[in-house]
Amino acid sequence: MINASHLTKIYKTDAIETTALSDVSFHVDKGEFVAIMGPSGSGKSTLMHILGALDIPTSGSYILDGQDVGKLKDDDLADIRNRKIGFVFQAFNLLPRTTAIRNVMLPMIYAGVAAEKREETAKAMLTRVGLGNRLYHTSNQLSGGQQQRVAIARALVMNPAILLADEPTGNIASAQAEEVMAIFRRLNDDGHTIVMITHEPDIAIHSKRIITVKDGKIIADKKNRQNRVKLQEIKEDG
Ligand SMILES: Nc1ncnc2c1ncn2[C@@H]1O[C@H](COP(=O)(O)OP(=O)(O)OP(=O)(O)O)[C@@H](O)[C@H]1O
Ligand SMILES: [Mg+2]
Repeated sequence: MINASHLTKIYKTDAIETTALSDVSFHVDKGEFVAIMGPSGSGKSTLMHILGALDIPTSGSYILDGQDVGKLKDDDLADIRNRKIGFVFQAFNLLPRTTAIRNVMLPMIYAGVAAEKREETAKAMLTRVGLGNRLYHTSNQLSGGQQQRVAIARALVMNPAILLADEPTGNIASAQAEEVMAIFRRLNDDGHTIVMITHEPDIAIHSKRIITVKDGKIIADKKNRQNRVKLQEIKEDG
């Protein structure tokens, strides 16, 4: 699914060069649930941007679902992002004053999916994350945890090869964070491949494998044997 080989990323500003990633190599197979951990400034978001085809490495290669992302042009990168990658960000990144269902339909609008099919798929995805009774609430009428669940539904409607999440629980209270992790685990049980960045051990514990980065390098890559902690039910709100 993911084949990252000798990835290096050097940021150049006027004054200094920063090596944010240094010779990072790893594979992620279909169906894995990987947490990427590490201290602030260790290169986690830089890695996520490369894995998400939002940025390209200074050197090294990145193959996603059989495609060499480093060799693609901007238009093709945008297409890969829309079709193969589902993003979940710390700050949700939903459109404000826009309904949950419209936020979830947007990727399908860009991809030219027929109107009826868009609506049906968006409703089904929102129901799957426990928001079947919040379809027409706007983003600002939803709690943080609910907004993140809308973002997860939006990330999944194009049936991406991989779900990428950068600190998905960073802006929400811990009870709601557990709900979001319950959704991730259920999605993973259903076969979705997930790569999640987090600096919180309580969140990483839900993954099946933990990669630790420090100073732009992988310093550990281990199976997570604690991952089968109790899974809570996903209930409809309301
Ligand atoms: N656009 C940029 N230009 C210059 N330097 C950058 C840029 N983005 C990140 N850096 C530097 O690269 C290093 C890695 O940053 P990165 O954002 O990947 O860290 P992180 O592990 O995600 O940290 P955090 O946990 O604080 O989010 C840092 O030293 C940072 O200052
Ligand atoms: Mg970061």
